[in-house]
Amino acid sequence: MKISIPKERRADEARVAGSPDTVKKLIGLGFDVVVETGAGEGSSIADDDFAAAGASIAADEAAALSDADIILKVQRPLTASEDGPDEVSMMKPGAILVGMLSALSYPDHAQQYAAAGLTAFSLELLPRISRAQSMDVLSSQSNLAGYKAVLDAAHEFTRAMPMMMTAAGTIPPAKVLVLGAGVAGLQAIATARRLGAVVLAYDVRPAVKEQVESLGAKFVEVDPDAIEGAETAGGYAKEMAADYQEKQAKVLHETLKKQDIVICTALIPGRPAPVLITEEMVKDMRPGSVIVDLAVEQGGNCPLSEFGKIVVKHGVTLVGHANVPSRVAADATAMYARNLLSFITPLVDTETKGLAIDWSDEIIEGCLITRDGAVVHPGLNTVVHVGLGKTEAG
Ligand code: NAI
Repeated sequence: MKISIPKERRADEARVAGSPDTVKKLIGLGFDVVVETGAGEGSSIADDDFAAAGASIAADEAAALSDADIILKVQRPLTASEDGPDEVSMMKPGAILVGMLSALSYPDHAQQYAAAGLTAFSLELLPRISRAQSMDVLSSQSNLAGYKAVLDAAHEFTRAMPMMMTAAGTIPPAKVLVLGAGVAGLQAIATARRLGAVVLAYDVRPAVKEQVESLGAKFVEVDPDAIEGAETAGGYAKEMAADYQEKQAKVLHETLKKQDIVICTALIPGRPAPVLITEEMVKDMRPGSVIVDLAVEQGGNCPLSEFGKIVVKHGVTLVGHANVPSRVAADATAMYARNLLSFITPLVDTETKGLAIDWSDEIIEGCLITRDGAVVHPGLNTVVHVGLGKTEAG
């Protein structure tokens, strides 16, 4: 069985879906691994490093993909309707495609995988159960994004982060507010604390207060009574009622007046990011303050932030970098590659060295989006029949 790791071709993507470490382990599981030349460049992995781990190096993408049984990707492959090579058409029918395919955001692409006869797994849909923790791509990548967001803020900030007492005077510590204390937010708190900042954090989920405090940050309280129903059974946040949002806006407005840096990480699955910082609030922030909006791809926690740009508005610098995990590409690749290895390993029958997929396993069911020519994920609600050229909206 052959596993292929092509170069990523989407904008702002420096990661790759394998590392020398995971290539070696995949070969140990009985696979042949082929890596497209230059695939590791953005993550500081040379072709020679992959070759030393046992991979063969393909001269181009078509050669890497043509007879692959499993294709490992970071982002969804390019399709016929986009600029660039049609990567989907290079994959053989029956091949397994694994990656952060963003299936719910791009259901039309899922239809194209089905039409191409691919069995596709969209890893951001993995259920967040403890058995799947080592495969949890959202956590591994958000963790690094939270870290990098603080460094990006420090880079734009025209003052120092830690308190400094010198003969020339005392520099006060920077005040950092972290909005949303999930995986990215908690890492942002830890990083800002390590840099010596005084950190506040806010989240609608009551469970995080203790975690925030254990990292040495202070939790911003809005209405402790109202947040009891703020969390879904899966541990995610819900959209809050209008009266709660009003109270939240008042508390945040006052808090923001005293902050130097804000790291925005608040997200609600399947919904636009909640707006937590309005233009009025930005106007009242101290000049020279910095907002890093990690939620910018989902619309942003601050509507003034712009995707892929650093802008200054009302004296405040708003950082809206695209694909923040890719800004720490080498480590993001190493973590993601291990997530993939953890996902692939249980699919292999150690005796026959062939694939033995338990289609009823909740991990498989959770992230399988296409199989046997059809879109099968319940969240995608559409069925495509190969060969009939017919699409049915379900
Ligand atoms: P996320 O990326 O969906 O959201 C980030 C944070 O924003 C969350 O903490 C959310 O509560 C917060 N948020 C949403 N709306 C907000 C608002 N209006 N104001 C302030 N904050 C708001 O979340 P993430 O980081 O993916 O984690 C979600 C949950 O999944 C957490 O409970 C986490 O503990 C859990 N989890 C479980 C894992 C496992 O068991 N395998 C692994 C990783 C996370």
